[in-house]
Amino acid sequence: MTSSPQKKILIIDDDPQIRMLLKDRLEANDYAVIQAENSVTGLELTKTDPPDLLLLDLQMPEMDGMEVLQHIRQQALDVPVVIMTAFGSIERAMDALKLGAYDFLPKPCKPDHIMMVVKNAIERKEMQEQNQYLRQEIERQYHMVIGESDAMRHVMDLARSVAPSKTTVLIGGESGTGKQLMARSIHAMSDRRDKPFVQVNCTTLSEQLIESDLFGHEKGAFTGAIKRKKGRFELANKGTMFLDEIGDLPLSLQAKLLHVIEYGEFQRVGGTDTLTADVRFIAATNKDLQKEVRENRFREDLYYRLNVVTVQLPALRTRMNDIPLFADHFLKKHSKAMQKNVIRLAPATIEQLKKYSWPGNIRELENAIERAVVLSYGSEITPNLLPQLSDASEKDRINIGLPLDEAMVHFKKEFITRTLQSVDNNQSKAAKLLNIQRTYLNRLIKELGVTI
Ligand SMILES: Nc1ncnc2c1ncn2[C@@H]1O[C@H](COP(=O)(O)OP(=O)(O)OP(=O)(O)O)[C@@H](O)[C@H]1O
Ligand SMILES: [Mg+2]
Repeated sequence: MTSSPQKKILIIDDDPQIRMLLKDRLEANDYAVIQAENSVTGLELTKTDPPDLLLLDLQMPEMDGMEVLQHIRQQALDVPVVIMTAFGSIERAMDALKLGAYDFLPKPCKPDHIMMVVKNAIERKEMQEQNQYLRQEIERQYHMVIGESDAMRHVMDLARSVAPSKTTVLIGGESGTGKQLMARSIHAMSDRRDKPFVQVNCTTLSEQLIESDLFGHEKGAFTGAIKRKKGRFELANKGTMFLDEIGDLPLSLQAKLLHVIEYGEFQRVGGTDTLTADVRFIAATNKDLQKEVRENRFREDLYYRLNVVTVQLPALRTRMNDIPLFADHFLKKHSKAMQKNVIRLAPATIEQLKKYSWPGNIRELENAIERAVVLSYGSEITPNLLPQLSDASEKDRINIGLPLDEAMVHFKKEFITRTLQSVDNNQSKAAKLLNIQRTYLNRLIKELGVTI
């Protein structure tokens, strides 16, 4: 058995007797104990000598436990809190749980109960830390732009050279080619990397919501605006703002956005003060913006303002050389995330992957590999674990013998593709015809790998 280092517990309680009792119990169970007789000292300790758990009395003179909880939350301190409250004040305990306390102990505390709650809270924190560590590690190793084909190297060089400046970058490319990943990596290569990367999806929000989402609003600006709220633009100060699907930004907001990009100035909805923020913009779209400009759906001045540098991501079918590299990258990523030991792709599998045209690009490839890892039992991915990859039309894939749910997937894909084609790929119109929300259509397009 491995012995883990002693866990440290901080007790904040103004009653010395209770502190003594808890300290004895906890120390007898091999915990290290520090104590504070008031909230101010206690809060200070949570910062200078962070404990693994905080036992907090709710009722104290001066600053009470609720305020301590509020401070902890506001300052995003990462410490689980168990509150102690007099028997009968269950409502206050509930309020404390709402404020993020992990659990509560009614006073007078029963020793067995204390130990159980403390043990659970500490175990949960450890589990969270382990998960977070694993996620961060996968993130670090696998969330970077890769590619060895000439097309990809060229794009990566360009990205590297524009990253350090404040230049606006427009990222183009079909769905699933890695536009979002590229935006993140440009941010990560800039000296703004430690500042926020704020993403806005211009498709999914209604007009009024986008505006208040971007610029914030004053209290009472519209029904439901019960208090003043900062917009994402303010939150992105000193960092980068990523405007995803910029081609879908309603015309009415394009002028406002242009002003913000040019002058760094904006007003909250319902406000009169002019505020400023220092933000670097990266926009992405899978639409042909020049065409949108010609057809008066996108302002020409905004287009030129965004298009200072364009990073055009190549479709996967134009860089088939990268397929083995990508496949292997995703194999490692997903077998690690699923804690499976799949080591390699059989040569026949790679051959299969190279024969397909990948209309959904890297996302579709990643999904195929992820699915294969889920299905695999051995250490190798054999071709039978791949989804049916063929460039035949969806209609031709609906053969007798398919399970109904699989046939439905092909049908949906074919039906959505045709509907989109019938309205010149206008997603709003297609959503109306299909009688579904546009955001839902957008999700289906991605999930099913519909090419537009
Ligand atoms: N060059 C790359 N290297 C590694 N992974 C990549 C690369 N390009 C894309 N991916 C992966 O492919 C998936 C899709 O990428 P991303 O979401 O960035 O695409 P997108 O162009 O924004 O798509 P959409 O237009 O549908 O929003 C992600 O899981 C991403 O990590
Ligand atoms: Mg995207």
